[in-house]
Amino acid sequence: MNIVLNSPLDMHLHLREGTMLQDVAPFTTGSFAGAVIMPNLVSPVDSLEKVRRYKEEIHAAGNSDSFAAYMTLFFKNYTRAELIAAKDEIIGIKLYPAGITTRSESGVSNFSTIDETLSLMEEMEIPLLVHGESNGFVLDREREFLTVYERLAETFPKLHIIMEHITTAEAVEFVDRYPNVSATVTLHHLMITLDDVIGGLMEPDLFCKPIAKRPEDLESLRDAVFSGHERIMFGSDSAPHPRHKKECCGCAAGIFSAPVALPMLAELFEDVGRLDLLQNFISDIACKRYGLHPPEKQITLEKISWEVPELYGKVKPFGAGRTLRWSIAR
Ligand code: NCD
Ligand code: ZN
Repeated sequence: MNIVLNSPLDMHLHLREGTMLQDVAPFTTGSFAGAVIMPNLVSPVDSLEKVRRYKEEIHAAGNSDSFAAYMTLFFKNYTRAELIAAKDEIIGIKLYPAGITTRSESGVSNFSTIDETLSLMEEMEIPLLVHGESNGFVLDREREFLTVYERLAETFPKLHIIMEHITTAEAVEFVDRYPNVSATVTLHHLMITLDDVIGGLMEPDLFCKPIAKRPEDLESLRDAVFSGHERIMFGSDSAPHPRHKKECCGCAAGIFSAPVALPMLAELFEDVGRLDLLQNFISDIACKRYGLHPPEKQITLEKISWEVPELYGKVKPFGAGRTLRWSIAR
């Protein structure tokens, strides 16, 4: 038995730069038709020139002509002229609250100063992708940020707002309330809770932002995804950090899931008897919500088991050492 996926898309991906980019890009460009590329580089991708340069680097590293790098700009206040120039070369603009996660220091610290740019984005139909966490208590950050989402969704009803990597039951309910709001869900947030991260021995490899939450939250995310929620799509948030930055004091947040994303998703959907919904989650919803026409690329998964390696280069992948039952046919 095989699973054939048409133009799978990863709607939230960190590819990094330099040698890390070289090492990780092929895992995505080989098995996805496109991905939304996060702009949180050492020097944020906050100009059209940087978008162009980064896109070229990605294509050189990914070495695939059937892969679309959907670029994002790092949110700051942009002028009308800047947005007009960038519009056709980006899929959206990614907003980080200042300091909330890896390399977000130059993000937004005052949400009352951004409306002019948001209004231009609404007018020009440029989507707004958001890392939706406050800087409150870690388990409450996503809930606290819902008031910001609410204001944005109501003030800019035609702005397409994407709640990135949602992790709570309340976030799922929020998506239901606003037709202009979509969300991405990661692979790991469909699998783990906070217990897996710190309930036994501490697992730095499962430490990410937003942190995995309660069993009820996990259930709610799974219910939404496995019932074919029409505004919730896959975004891996695959975020590689070299092993020495994970296995240390002050470990970096981020889970590297790109090499296992499709095989593991196939297992999850198969386990709940909903393989029929995988195509929807992995591509169709994103195409509809963003109006995309990705490169045509068929990816076949075969029922051949394999063991996830302990390391890919310098990075430990999600699921290292586990035996998975679906392989990507090469
Ligand atoms: C991401 C990273 O490392 O860039 N880390 C993470 O834990 N998800 C940033 C992010 O998406 O928050
Ligand atoms: Zn991310």
